[in-house]
Amino acid sequence: MLERTFAIIKPDAVKSKFTGQIIDRIEKEGFSIVGLKKHHLSQQEAEAFYAVHKDRPFYGELTQFMCSGPVVVMVLEKENAIKAWRELMGATDPEQAAANTIRKLFAKNKGENAVHGSDAPETAREEIRFFFSDLA
Ligand code: RTP
Ligand code: MG
Repeated sequence: MLERTFAIIKPDAVKSKFTGQIIDRIEKEGFSIVGLKKHHLSQQEAEAFYAVHKDRPFYGELTQFMCSGPVVVMVLEKENAIKAWRELMGATDPEQAAANTIRKLFAKNKGENAVHGSDAPETAREEIRFFFSDLA
């Protein structure tokens, strides 16, 4: 099933100038980029976007990190895009990530881990709507 998911290139990867390499990899893996923009999240936006994690010990660190610099937000389309993008990203902690995944190649650590991806159809819809009201 042709599906859409939501992706972020996080501030660590943008700062390290990995944006081009990550986008190149996304296209080579057969995703179509349906929407793309650079955006600097406010603290309030970061808190709202990651509200699902508000009771987790890393919430403060995560939301500060996510607004520490610009990010690139994207809507990606492919067959089974949600699962395919999470597989291409690799595990949350780059030390656990499979070889040649984006996090293995580009992430600094478990917190500053280069990319985000939606984890289910409902979150994909909500996250797309959050940044691309015209594509939701
Ligand atoms: P994401 O939502 O960003 O795609 O990442 P994920 O599903 O692989 O991981 P999740 O459990 O949803 O965590 C969201 C983000 O919070 C940061 N984190 N830090 N220091 C820590 O123990 C820790 N755990 C998670 C990461 O930036 C993670 O991607
Ligand atoms: Mg997640």
